[in-house]
Amino acid sequence: MLPTDHLAVVERVVEHPLPYFSLLLAVPRGWADLAAGQFVMVRTGSGLEPFLRRAFSVHDATSSATGDRIELLIKAVGRGTRALAALSPGARLPVLGPLGRGFSLAAEGPVALVAGGVGAAPLYLLARRLAERGQRFDFFYGGRNRVDLPRLESFAALARRSGGRLVATTEDGSAGASGLVAEPLERALASGEFRFVYACGPMGLLARLASLVAAHGLGGEAALETPMGCGFGACLGCAVPRPDGRFALCCQDGPVFAFSEVAW
Ligand SMILES: Cc1cc2nc3c(=O)[nH]c(=O)nc-3n(C[C@H](O)[C@H](O)[C@H](O)COP(=O)(O)OP(=O)(O)OC[C@H]3O[C@@H](n4cnc5c(N)ncnc54)[C@H](O)[C@@H]3O)c2cc1C
Ligand code: FES
Repeated sequence: MLPTDHLAVVERVVEHPLPYFSLLLAVPRGWADLAAGQFVMVRTGSGLEPFLRRAFSVHDATSSATGDRIELLIKAVGRGTRALAALSPGARLPVLGPLGRGFSLAAEGPVALVAGGVGAAPLYLLARRLAERGQRFDFFYGGRNRVDLPRLESFAALARRSGGRLVATTEDGSAGASGLVAEPLERALASGEFRFVYACGPMGLLARLASLVAAHGLGGEAALETPMGCGFGACLGCAVPRPDGRFALCCQDGPVFAFSEVAW
């Protein structure tokens, strides 16, 4: 579907707890069909500051008799995201979207979903769609501590519904196993459990996953969060290096790329 610039209505603000929160927004009819992995550009203030819109993955998208809704899962890190956390129901928010290329959903057989912290945001809609079509997945979810794993129980429920499981890790051991999320994933890939990996998280995690996926001869896709100025190809500020020495634009060619399309 073509992107539109729309005044979305804030229906709810849910703390997960802070600094993570969800914004539930009423959006135009048709948005519920967007692809998992697509994103929106949100104006976070009414004055000149912050000047640039902020990019957020669509965490969930639903349709009902009363209209279409999207949910954004946000980590409050600076001026824009803190302003969004302070919104109240009824507020109107300029939202441009849906933008970019989402996950392909082309993989067959059991797949692994891997999230680092708020990288979980675009994987919820993907997980829900995989579960609805009966495709098994395991959800590998890593963060620094328990708070860094927002919506842990919801991800676990979706994984169970698909026939899979949730594997959580934290660096301080406050939830799941102690350590980094790539460690249990590496063991699972070595045992041949999965044919494909979907991921989102910090670049260091994605680069490690790219080499694991290549080493096991698997396919995989990653949603990148390269900082963006415009979100639609005008500012050239979101360049992603490709293996052939050229550059892709994260906002138009991505934000979802095959691991093999990026020079990590
Ligand atoms: C395609 C895409 C999808 C995204 N999806 C989500 C999402 O679903 N949920 C979410 O919470 N965030 C997401 N982000 C990151 C989000 O856009 C930034 O956190 C946000 O722009 C920060 O705005 P701010 O005004 O609060 O912070 P600022 O005041 O601009 O910056 C505060 C701090 O955050 C850092 N920062 C700013 N932008 C980014 C970024 N893109 N990645 C990492 N660090 C950044 C800055 O370096 C600085 O240290 C996404 C980014 C992209 C490009
Ligand atoms: S964000 Fe402006 S070109 Fe990609």
